[in-house]
Amino acid sequence: QTVEPFDLVIFGGTGDLAARKLLPALFHRFLDHQLPPSSRIVGVAREALDDAGYRAQLREALIAICDARQLDEFLQQVFYRPLDARKDEGWDDFAAFIGAEPDHVRVFYLSTSPELFVDICKRLGHYGLNQGKSRVVLEKPIGRDLDSANRINDAVGQVFDETQTFRIDHYLGKETVQNLLVLRFGNALFEPLWNSAHIDHVQITVAETLGVGHRGAYYDRAGALRDMVQNHMLQLLCMVAMEPPSSLAPDAVRDEKLKVLHSLKPIDAGNAGQLTVRGQYRAGVAEGASVPGYGEELGNAKSDTETFVALKAEIGNWRWAGVPFYLRTGKRLAHRVSEIAVTFKPVPHSIFDAASGSLTQNRLVLRLQPDEGVKLWLTIKHPGPGGLRLRHVPLDMSFAEAFGVSQPDAYERLLLDVVRGNPTLFMRRDEVEAAWRWAGPILAAWSDSGEAPRPYAAGSWGPSASVALIERDGRTWHDDN
Ligand code: BG6
Repeated sequence: QTVEPFDLVIFGGTGDLAARKLLPALFHRFLDHQLPPSSRIVGVAREALDDAGYRAQLREALIAICDARQLDEFLQQVFYRPLDARKDEGWDDFAAFIGAEPDHVRVFYLSTSPELFVDICKRLGHYGLNQGKSRVVLEKPIGRDLDSANRINDAVGQVFDETQTFRIDHYLGKETVQNLLVLRFGNALFEPLWNSAHIDHVQITVAETLGVGHRGAYYDRAGALRDMVQNHMLQLLCMVAMEPPSSLAPDAVRDEKLKVLHSLKPIDAGNAGQLTVRGQYRAGVAEGASVPGYGEELGNAKSDTETFVALKAEIGNWRWAGVPFYLRTGKRLAHRVSEIAVTFKPVPHSIFDAASGSLTQNRLVLRLQPDEGVKLWLTIKHPGPGGLRLRHVPLDMSFAEAFGVSQPDAYERLLLDVVRGNPTLFMRRDEVEAAWRWAGPILAAWSDSGEAPRPYAAGSWGPSASVALIERDGRTWHDDN
């Protein structure tokens, strides 16, 4: 697919996301000839750097993953402008630089703290950089609650209209998440069973082994609910639970997701104690190495920010009545794994005797990362003459084995979607609002309760209360690691 020449400006150009995700993604698109030669990538931050200094910094960050010769070629298309969103200095020069290519698609990627979104947008508007083929990308989380999100969206909306505004949730760019759409709506097999008559419950796990590292300043103000649940996990839940959209048109998909968000049953002070568990990691052993606890990593032993959340969500509509969606996410957990596990109801009557072994419920597991793939757990007969012995085994499809290609990073797909102006995999304003409307009362309930998050050892599966949360319902967390 061809790509129009574009300028992509990254505010927060010296930050973690730019070096770890955005620039590598653009480099890979460059290798695939999707970075037209006149296109420019412009890093913007407060540091006093010039083009050469920025390129040298990126070279150091990227050299481990890139071929040196091609990297240098790519870096010729990368520039840097020092700017402070709150000071005038440098903006005239920046505006002239961007204005020099009036026909380019312009993408302003705001990879900064959300508090700066408004200042940056006002300045872009002041210089007329919101005109023509201009788009703005807002990184999550947008605000820290409904009110602050509304303030940001209102102010950004004064400068960029909704069709120019791309609220990114990189989980939607993951290949396996898009595959969920294909799996559900490209096969006749699943949809007739995709409801409360046949599905027992759904589990969504996003477990990380890393700690907060040097992102503490951001993370400590956010916590796992704002960082992962309000956006990534709810988006996954929507993809599992939404009604079939009539097409893949951006609003057809987003309308259906919105209905799911609106149907989430409230969790508030009355039931948060039963339906949610928050935790914070302590020192422990992660992937064979001793690691410090969150407080030590942060340099603030008093922090009561949660690094782990498990909760039981319910969707109050006809399709999903009575089907729990168990969500859990955390840092410094036992394994890095993101997956969606859909467990079906047991068969209504067993014709097998106890000696054959017990019947296990069918389960469809979509592994988002690592080892992307799909497993459908079935009951079969153990081969051989030893009588009827039941076995639970997966039909196992690994994407790497089946297609022999590595999965492109989510940002590769999403950045080009912005350049092309395709918002299907981005969050509309009303989705962000609906997600905050549901998450806000949970945050309020936690803060009103005055309870500290429960400690868990780094390298474990989180606080034991999260095991109790699901076991109370006679179920267990899926784990086939
Ligand atoms: C980001 C969060 O949005 O997603 C991080 O801010 C988290 O805290 C990351 O580590 C996880 O993304 P991925 O693609 O590595 O699963």
